[in-house]
Amino acid sequence: MLAVEGLAAGYGQSQVLFGVDFAVGRGQVVTLLGRNGMGKTTTVRAVMGLLRPWAGRVSFEGMTLSGLPPHKVARQGIGLVPEGRQVFPTLTVEENLVATAANRAGAAGRAPRWDLEAVYALFPRLRERRRSPGARLSGGEQQMVAIGRALMTNPKLLILDEATEGLAPMIRAEIWAVLARLKAEGQSILLIDKNLAAVMRLADCHVVIEKGRVVWTGTSEELARAPEVRDTYLHI
Ligand SMILES: Nc1ncnc2c1ncn2[C@@H]1O[C@H](COP(=O)(O)OP(=O)(O)OP(=O)(O)O)[C@@H](O)[C@H]1O
Ligand SMILES: [Mg+2]
Repeated sequence: MLAVEGLAAGYGQSQVLFGVDFAVGRGQVVTLLGRNGMGKTTTVRAVMGLLRPWAGRVSFEGMTLSGLPPHKVARQGIGLVPEGRQVFPTLTVEENLVATAANRAGAAGRAPRWDLEAVYALFPRLRERRRSPGARLSGGEQQMVAIGRALMTNPKLLILDEATEGLAPMIRAEIWAVLARLKAEGQSILLIDKNLAAVMRLADCHVVIEKGRVVWTGTSEELARAPEVRDTYLHI
């Protein structure tokens, strides 16, 4: 579904990605793992068109994305839950949710899966808070808005950059349960998170990035049997 090949990118003169390769298959949950500053967010930004790749290719369902502006990438069916959530502070929960919504028809012309009611059913707390401005929300509520807002675009691929960072344990558990539910429905997901135990339960495949290069790829079972990978690349 998503193929990233030889992706190089950076900021100004400083190169951050040195040829990143990985793929996400339809219905798969794939993680990008790696310590702080290794290039996970930069990879996501280059995929989304928020950062222009220096070299390499990003394609989605066979179509080349590299070089497209972010709104065109989104329109191809990729929804981003960005690092830091980026909820609009002066808009209400409901306004945030509809801000970038898209009525992309579902498979075989069926009604799209996600609308306001469906997001409120997934996160009942957001229905209660629907008139509250973004600035008044807790971190957990903001993350629910960010996930709901991405789902409202009815994405074929959902990308989450730091799915549970800085959230209270109960909210984390709720986010993991929601992601498991989305996966069970067949949602394709590219996920960044530092909670190794949780991502190993959820994901099909892991891609470990070290200094802008993919140094290891494998399943959760393979990662469980590779303590050296965890010790070398994943210790915070
Ligand atoms: N806007 C920017 N301008 C210049 N350098 C940047 C910028 N954003 C990130 N960098 C640098 O690029 C490198 C990779 O950063 P990136 O945010 O991709 O890492 P990350 O793997 O997402 O880390 P984290 O786990 O902390 O989110 C780091 O060295 C960082 O300092
Ligand atoms: Mg990051």
